[in-house]
Amino acid sequence: MVNTLDASFVTEGCWKPGLFEGKVVIVTGGAGTICRVQTEAMVLLGCQAAIVGRNEESTVAAAEEISRLGSDGCVLPLYNIDVRDFKQMEEAVARTLARFGRIDFVIAGAAGNFICDFAHMSPNAFKTVVDIDLLGSFNTVKACFPQLVKNKGSILFVSATLHYYGVPFQSHVGAAKAGIDALSNALAVELGPLGIRSNCIAPGPIGGTEGFRRLVQKDLRDKAIESVPLQRLGTTRDIAESTVFLFSPASAFVTGTISVVDGGAWHVGTHFSHNMYPKQLVERMRSKL
Ligand code: COA
Repeated sequence: MVNTLDASFVTEGCWKPGLFEGKVVIVTGGAGTICRVQTEAMVLLGCQAAIVGRNEESTVAAAEEISRLGSDGCVLPLYNIDVRDFKQMEEAVARTLARFGRIDFVIAGAAGNFICDFAHMSPNAFKTVVDIDLLGSFNTVKACFPQLVKNKGSILFVSATLHYYGVPFQSHVGAAKAGIDALSNALAVELGPLGIRSNCIAPGPIGGTEGFRRLVQKDLRDKAIESVPLQRLGTTRDIAESTVFLFSPASAFVTGTISVVDGGAWHVGTHFSHNMYPKQLVERMRSKL
């Protein structure tokens, strides 16, 4: 387990204790590294949470651990739920309402990724990631829509910076995340008159995540970090802090934005899969052609 939060997030942090008292967040991918810590921050500030995942064991374990940061039973694990299946997401929402009675905030964070160049990417591989990331995000918000309307809720999509420029081995994820940004922007405009806000958070290189481990070869890690303008990797806490801001009243007039949390990395084209570019890419392509 990495980078989890504790009570000092509230006692020594910059957010008002009890900020989200009486509110409920539903988080897809809530047992994963980044979304888990987003959930922890919300729970530490008084929110109740339902975390949605495919895997029973990891979802139940994460819910138990996160719930120790808040009141008894404040985190509901919802497992065997695939965001690609709208009926399953409707079921997740129904179970959240049965337990907590309302939903105020949505974090659409469930995502899939693997390193793959275009020559090796099957149509089904591409579709799988687009379905999990983009269709799954749509399904999540769609299933929560009645509650968002009722409670003038707020949506947060977990995006990326991969699609701001060409990132090798990530065409599927870049395409999906570009779609998420477009979806969020359209929802901000369509749902704004109903009092619903929609924003994206775009994490850059975050230490301890599966994505970072896969993309960065160990011997190139330090060199890669030097190329980030703020000279460090991001932490899951960095993402959690921005999450709290975007759900808090401090951002009451903020909608249709993409909040990039990457230490300035994308401005200088820092993407770690460049470690494999172009030599490994060409070798892989050749093996297929
Ligand atoms: N390289 C190339 N293609 C891959 C691949 C890889 N590393 N991993 C999966 N695929 C392809 C499969 O071959 C299949 O395509 P095919 O039918 O043409 O052979 C397609 O993607 C679907 O794979 P499958 O494993 O059946 O899908 P799934 O829905 O069970 O799981 C993922 C999809 C993305 C969740 C799974 O690949 C995975 O576990 N990834 C790593 C974990 C992860 O994504 N964590 C989140 C990080 S953000």
